[in-house]
Amino acid sequence: MANNADESTSFDIVVLGGGSGGYACALRAAELGMTVALIEKDKVGGTCLHYGCIPTKALLHAAEVADAARDSAQFGVKATLDGVDVPALQSYKDSVVNRAYKGLQGLIKARKITLVEGAGRLAGPNAVEVDGTRYEGRQLVLATGSYAKTLPGLELDGERVISSYEALTLDRVPSSVIVLGGGVIGVEFASVWRSFGVEVTIVEALPRLVPSEDEDVSKAVERSFRRRGIGFKTGAPFKEVEKADSGVRVTLEGGDALEAELMLVAVGRGAVTEGLGYEEAGITLDRGFVPTDDRFRTNVPGVYAIGDIVPGLQLAHRGFQQGIFVAEHIGGLDPVPFDDTGIPRVTYCDPEVASVGLTEAAAAEMYGADNIESYRYDLAGNGKSQILKTQGFAKLVRLKGDRVLGVHMVGARVGELVAEAQLIYNWEALPDDVAQLIHAHPTQSEALGEAHLALAGKPLHVHS
Ligand code: NAI
Repeated sequence: MANNADESTSFDIVVLGGGSGGYACALRAAELGMTVALIEKDKVGGTCLHYGCIPTKALLHAAEVADAARDSAQFGVKATLDGVDVPALQSYKDSVVNRAYKGLQGLIKARKITLVEGAGRLAGPNAVEVDGTRYEGRQLVLATGSYAKTLPGLELDGERVISSYEALTLDRVPSSVIVLGGGVIGVEFASVWRSFGVEVTIVEALPRLVPSEDEDVSKAVERSFRRRGIGFKTGAPFKEVEKADSGVRVTLEGGDALEAELMLVAVGRGAVTEGLGYEEAGITLDRGFVPTDDRFRTNVPGVYAIGDIVPGLQLAHRGFQQGIFVAEHIGGLDPVPFDDTGIPRVTYCDPEVASVGLTEAAAAEMYGADNIESYRYDLAGNGKSQILKTQGFAKLVRLKGDRVLGVHMVGARVGELVAEAQLIYNWEALPDDVAQLIHAHPTQSEALGEAHLALAGKPLHVHS
């Protein structure tokens, strides 16, 4: 069924998948005067809006509110946490999602994009078929997103062994959860549940939580999680799970066993590319992902791929940027290719983690350890962080005598500081450039300013 009353089934661009990447591409292409069909089998907005970023961050905000109530006495305020009203929590979360969903539908309509509601399948290199109708595009953009992976032999039953999809709509606060995977999804849900009083244990195969972050960041998160009573086992690969009516029993390689009411599996996301006619159209796949060049062209002329199906960081804002890029490329604007290292990354657990650029280890590997310098400014020296009673740091990694190669932060609300950090990284700023910029007092952004002052050789609020 085609919305927006367009009779034509021939377009400048046909976009398959209406998530962050696909809809951003459609909006920008329409803005540039192209005719666009956007094909979506579920709801425009995709995983990010309906089952990912937005609803999880609503839960994380509710978790912060619960912590504020529980810990209010330390700020001289009398409040008690009486519990979590799950239906009200769900309705708060859903209201946030629905409002954004309505807004997005309005945008799509206003830009006169033809929204095709149905499951599409490639029918050659320049057409997508939906329920027997062929939508032809001078160019095709594949943006079919990702799904929650599991491990061989580990079945997600949606009740005892769940993915983030079910975790978002649980009708209760469970008493205990085992979280399999200490990556982004794992630590975010562990954080929410702990704030709601759940006994949580994270099981992570690699030696540390958030293993793709800088090692100092992992240490700080682990320290805070320990203080919060979040259990974790690192260097502990999963072996098997037994299910009973009352819960799950998980055994790890090495023999340890854990029991809980349910288990969340968060071991990464795979690309949705199977059974969509990609291979039949001649598109090369690599372990299910669609490799592209730096302009997101697949190996088949006229077919582009964006978002989580393209190998690399699976982040909504990467998808947005890729979508805009492809629309501009097709529109002849010659956009400048970008590097995934410059994409800011935020993990919204408590404490938050935010980073951009290279970790210290990656920088040392790339440039040689002798050519790297790093500096950590502790949030203990930052007034606003002390007011919030949060701990953490802003760490800079730089090429000696040269630009900043990485910014890594831990602490409450540091996600908002990544905006400046990504400008510093992507503009290849020198610490001296940043040191002369003024940071408002008292804000947490001063921690970034102070770290650059220190690297520029003029530390201010630093005990030497
Ligand atoms: P992830 O790749 O971040 O973490 C998966 C973790 O599972 C890894 O640390 C891995 O070592 C561990 N693991 C794998 N096999 C294991 C085993 N057999 N036993 C124990 N541990 C095992 O993937 P995750 O957390 O599922 O997230 C998927 C994607 O969604 C990520 O790319 C992430 O960037 C994205 N996302 C981003 C968010 C954000 O930007 N705030 C929020 C949520 C998801």
